[in-house]
Amino acid sequence: MKTTHSFLAMKEKKEPISMVTAYDFPSAQLSAAAGIDILLVGDSLGMVVLGYDSTVPVTIEDMIHHGKAVRRGAPETFIVTDMPYMSYHSSLERTMENARHLMQQTGSNALKLEGSGAVIEKIAALVEAGVPIVGHLGLTPQSAGVLGGFKVQGRDASKAQKLVDDALAIEAAGACMLVLECVPHQVTKLVTEALTIPVIGIGAGQEADGQVLVYHDLLSYGFHHVPKFVKQYATVSHDMVRGLKQFHEEVKAAHFPQSEHSFTMKDEEVEALYG
Ligand code: KIV
Ligand code: NA
Repeated sequence: MKTTHSFLAMKEKKEPISMVTAYDFPSAQLSAAAGIDILLVGDSLGMVVLGYDSTVPVTIEDMIHHGKAVRRGAPETFIVTDMPYMSYHSSLERTMENARHLMQQTGSNALKLEGSGAVIEKIAALVEAGVPIVGHLGLTPQSAGVLGGFKVQGRDASKAQKLVDDALAIEAAGACMLVLECVPHQVTKLVTEALTIPVIGIGAGQEADGQVLVYHDLLSYGFHHVPKFVKQYATVSHDMVRGLKQFHEEVKAAHFPQSEHSFTMKDEEVEALYG
């Protein structure tokens, strides 16, 4: 099992880190079989698995349900789980209890929290309590409503500087890694050079220490909207619909099942049955 130390060493050696989201037993098994370094039980599951139009409706219970299945599918892989919408914004006590449930029930190796500001002190308290924390800056989908949609962040110099400052504050609070989403590649370069901890980019260019994509996006699994920054490495929906359609048609035409898909009895048993 890789550790936060392994990822620091990979950054130092300039060995890129691969991360992909996983939401259930098969997605975890397949990603582990592919040798992916880190699995993220992303709250993007609200959109690509549960069919909501944002990550806002996702609950702690949803994250636990999916996180447990991911751990069963990838027992040897470093797993990061998202703390969902508003689960780390009220009291410190509520935040700590939510984090405890997520860590103990899913067997994750780290939790991810979006944003800066008041979130920084939550990160510091969680790390103090022994919870490895991944930060998330740039486009933070849980606050898409406040940001005015799913848009590129940090495009002007002052906003870019704020991102660098926030990233440094997250590192200073003790985070072990940072996800940087949908920012100009020049900003990614600045942040990546400024930090000791690995920066994992998504829609953030090549200069990050690693890359993450959403499982369903990179495999083209499902008919959801896929952002511009995604490269599609497979088109599984196409194959799946073709297979399902063929099954449907063969059932209608009584071509499935054939004898090789059926069970049979010995002749004497059939005789005894029918007399
Ligand atoms: O939930 C998610 O999939 C994420 C990644 C996009 C980083 O947070
Ligand atoms: Na997320």
